[in-house]
Amino acid sequence: MIWIKTLSLLLLPALFMNSVMTTGFAEETVLNHDDDPDPGREKYIWNPFPGFCGENATKARCAGVCPETCAFKSLKCPNYCGVNCICKPDYVFDEKLQLCILKSDCPQDIKQEVVETHRVFQ
Ligand SMILES: *[C@@H]1O[C@H](CO)[C@@H](O)[C@H](O)[C@H]1NC(C)=O
Repeated sequence: MIWIKTLSLLLLPALFMNSVMTTGFAEETVLNHDDDPDPGREKYIWNPFPGFCGENATKARCAGVCPETCAFKSLKCPNYCGVNCICKPDYVFDEKLQLCILKSDCPQDIKQEVVETHRVFQ
């Protein structure tokens, strides 16, 4: 019986490492568009793109959780895959409208700040 224990002790971390290494991103769940986001649940990401990316975004496997917005540009971001749509070049994510808009269409009174991390998707 000892050998089974030894074997599983050796194997389990190997399997875990393998799953982390193949994706490079932490496990997460992307919620449906209709589900309410819960800021307390870091592992869940609310998807603002209802099944398709819309005219101003394109499909991406790992678009991350810190897209550039009218108000913020992040220097760093946690390694979550996030939603599977990314704003097209020259477009930023508008957090009020919950869609990508042309950067030049951002409200004039908002001055974009470069910050350490601004996490948009929860
Ligand atoms: C696309 O971007 C334009 C220009 O900023 C904006 O007016 C429009 O609302 C956006 N549409 C969608 C569906 O994201």
